[in-house]
Amino acid sequence: MEMRIKDISQRLEVPVSTIRYWQNEFTDLIMPQRTDGGQRRYSERDCTLFSKIKTLVYEQGQSLATAKKIIKSGKSFRSDIDWTQQTILITGGTGSFGKHFCRMMLDHYNPKAIRIYSRDELKQHDMRIEFKDDPRLRFLIGDVRDGERLRRAMEGVDMAVHAAALKQVPACEYNPFEAVKTNVHGAQNVINAAIDAGVKKVIALSTDKAVNPVNLYGATKLCSDKLFTQGNSYAGGGRTRFACVRYGNVIGSRGSVIPVFLKQKESGRLTITDPRMTRFWITLDQAVELVLKGFKYMEGGEIFVPQIPSMRITDLARAIAPDCVVDQIGIRPGEKLHEALTGEDEGRTAVIYKGMYVILPNYSWWNRKNYVEAVPVPENFVYTSDGNQEWMTVEQLRELVYGSATPGGVAQFQPKLDREEVEIYAVRN
Ligand SMILES: NC(=O)c1ccc[n+]([C@@H]2O[C@H](COP(=O)([O-])OP(=O)(O)OC[C@H]3O[C@@H](n4cnc5c(N)ncnc54)[C@H](OP(=O)(O)O)[C@@H]3O)[C@@H](O)[C@H]2O)c1
Repeated sequence: MEMRIKDISQRLEVPVSTIRYWQNEFTDLIMPQRTDGGQRRYSERDCTLFSKIKTLVYEQGQSLATAKKIIKSGKSFRSDIDWTQQTILITGGTGSFGKHFCRMMLDHYNPKAIRIYSRDELKQHDMRIEFKDDPRLRFLIGDVRDGERLRRAMEGVDMAVHAAALKQVPACEYNPFEAVKTNVHGAQNVINAAIDAGVKKVIALSTDKAVNPVNLYGATKLCSDKLFTQGNSYAGGGRTRFACVRYGNVIGSRGSVIPVFLKQKESGRLTITDPRMTRFWITLDQAVELVLKGFKYMEGGEIFVPQIPSMRITDLARAIAPDCVVDQIGIRPGEKLHEALTGEDEGRTAVIYKGMYVILPNYSWWNRKNYVEAVPVPENFVYTSDGNQEWMTVEQLRELVYGSATPGGVAQFQPKLDREEVEIYAVRN
């Protein structure tokens, strides 16, 4: 869809004069089409770029020159922690999130060292090769169930990310005690080891499945969230602080809906389980940025939730294959129609802060001072993919998948991940 400058201004709630100023400052990045009469017409991509400038300049207080550098680097948030002085440990560092996190940290922040903590030597071997034996990476074999090993691994660590989990819904249902051992006892071990080693900040990854959990995976992650938010009370006056970030299905994961639609397109038929279905749209880059934002702002006990757009599954189908027949095949057991990233009760302590929803802890016996400029969310607030204010249009989705507004081209989209929880996808393979 082509937009005029006043459309961009209305959508982003930024004055036309400011948009015009940004346009003049970012001529090498924002290149609108011209009408025969010479007027500028902006694409969805241009609008996204203006939105990034807005976030960087208005919310993060960056100068235009820094904003330009950050946008050119492909990121919309730049951490101001001096990572060159930090040793990081990431549990589950060989997983989808872990590898992406390592890639972004090594490419953009040059940390002193990253310790990868996981069980399988083959995954570590493959990662070592994939990262070309980067000397900043250290590969530690260990299980989060093993507290003693974790204690040793955490020695000398400044910052930690807890990403290791059992996360396939059916596997957790079939092996319930194992899910508890890894996701609950593992979380407890990470907290204990971090406190003992004097780690400064720890962020654990939560999931939408932890909101009103309907399966054991979600229940163990909810328990893990509670351990991390309240784990701060064990650190007392010590220096270790714990927080969580929460996001849902990472779009484009292998086996998820986009690659499946792309494949089905060849046969002329797409399958949708339920046409009412909606999902949030988050990329792995955004997930890593969320963790970095968490490290910057956390005081202990928060759950950071990104403000991200939603999409309708039917719009995605139209974007990918407008000419295909769509078969409706019925919702699967445990599949939710919509994603929720905050629950009703969490809404009572949630605030809007730096472009995120932040669920503050109910009880905090440790010192907290931040969030004075945070805005409370409205009463009865829940953040669900169907109740979202921001929606991806068919054109935006098409541009993200194909790199242009026409569906005929070759998909730009590269699946990056293994799938998380089996029930989240809108289609059957
Ligand atoms: N993928 C998503 O869409 C999504 C969405 C929301 C939240 N999350 C959360 O994000 C986190 C990371 O997800 P992911 O997609 O990166 O997972 P993943 O690709 O399955 O990776 C899991 C990682 O954890 C390690 N691991 C598993 N059990 C372990 C144990 N007992 N001890 C030590 N390491 C262990 C695995 O390595 P080994 O097998 O070698 O130990 C692997 O490195 C999880 O906490 C998940 O709940 C994911």
